[in-house]
Amino acid sequence: PGNTARGADGALTVAGLDVRDIAAEFGTPLYVLDEDDLRARCRAFRDAFSADDVYYAGKAFLCRAVVRMIAEEGLFLDVCSGGELAVALAAGMPPERIGFHGNNKSVAELSRALEAGVGRIIVDSFTELDRLTALARERGVRPGVLIRVTVGVEAHTHEFIATAHEDQKFGFSLAGGSALAAALRVLDEGVLELRGLHSHIGSQIFDTSGFEVSARRVLTLQAQIRDARGVQLPELDLGGGFGIAYTSQDDPAVPQDLADRLRKIVEFECAAERLAVPRLSVEPGRAIVGPAVFTLYEVGTVKDVDGIRTYVSVDGGMSDNIRTALYDASYSATLASRASAAGPLLARVVGKHCESGDIVVKDEFLPADVQPGDLVAVPGTGAYCRSMASNYNHVPRPGVVAVRNGRARLIVRPETEEDLLALDVG
Ligand code: LLP
Repeated sequence: PGNTARGADGALTVAGLDVRDIAAEFGTPLYVLDEDDLRARCRAFRDAFSADDVYYAGKAFLCRAVVRMIAEEGLFLDVCSGGELAVALAAGMPPERIGFHGNNKSVAELSRALEAGVGRIIVDSFTELDRLTALARERGVRPGVLIRVTVGVEAHTHEFIATAHEDQKFGFSLAGGSALAAALRVLDEGVLELRGLHSHIGSQIFDTSGFEVSARRVLTLQAQIRDARGVQLPELDLGGGFGIAYTSQDDPAVPQDLADRLRKIVEFECAAERLAVPRLSVEPGRAIVGPAVFTLYEVGTVKDVDGIRTYVSVDGGMSDNIRTALYDASYSATLASRASAAGPLLARVVGKHCESGDIVVKDEFLPADVQPGDLVAVPGTGAYCRSMASNYNHVPRPGVVAVRNGRARLIVRPETEEDLLALDVG
């Protein structure tokens, strides 16, 4: 994060606090959020997309404190389940600034969204259209909806997190004509208010050409809708998925460049189709919260395996960061509690779980004198680490501490053994 530095004796500090003091007060493992860094990222997106709406994708990481931070910085919020909606509402997020996603929203979830008055619902299937139309009729309300369109773009990212190629579960197909059919059905029934189209092509994307292709395709659809029914849809959402730097090899675009490029292509395409330029929105999750957090671990054992490799075991692992095992993700690690003059040692940082795939950082040079009791920091863990954490092996999930101006406050408390037992009945 932006406010990390090395103190006089070489220990890592964040927003003026020594990580040894943070670890002593809150324990490890621990997610440490650099609050000013998170807020600066919110502002960078808000300023770059100043004419547009920026929805923070809460699936990356959500808790009440973070909802308040992003709301204070002028962002909207994208939720994708009843649980995320509940957190958003509990934190006081204005419902009209919430967008509701999901490919299988239940009747209960949709009812809750209507009751709360969420700003827009992104509709994903004909079944959901029927469900939502019936609920809206019953309640006499007219919710704003976007149609999620599968634009057929192959995003260059891991298969599990690419979402706009044809053969996957999200959205209405553009090529097959169901996206147009869905839009026309909403317009003809007149029960829901069709605000626009939505496309999300995947996650951890660096090459912006995918967004350009998807913008072009949804705007072509928008022109077809105009030709069929004479309406110009006022909104267009191009989704999230903006990549971040997990290691020094990654080179992400800055929000301003992203915004300029998206706006240019949208304006160009609208001119070509003689469409009024719609109000744009984007849904960054990872790019807002990912770089603002590091995980602080304590080293438990250091093992040299027959000269092949050195394994540095830390006190967490795949339960607090499943991304390495699940997506073959790359992270880095740094010795955080002290300086070392020792030479580099190629190490693998692993967790404490009963599984050999329990790897946090595949390969990293750590000082050769790394030892039990040292603190190790793994940066870039703000997105999809706490939110995908599990209790595998009955390991309690770590808490989250927000640090700002030399002060640390717990925003998610660490789980305890009592928490682990709390759901057992009998
Ligand atoms: N909008 C929609 C409709 C989405 O489905 C997603 C992510 C986002 C926005 C935010 O994407 P972001 O800007 O954070 O990349 N667990 C995976 C990522 C799954 C993303 C799911 N949808 C990971 O750890 O990489």
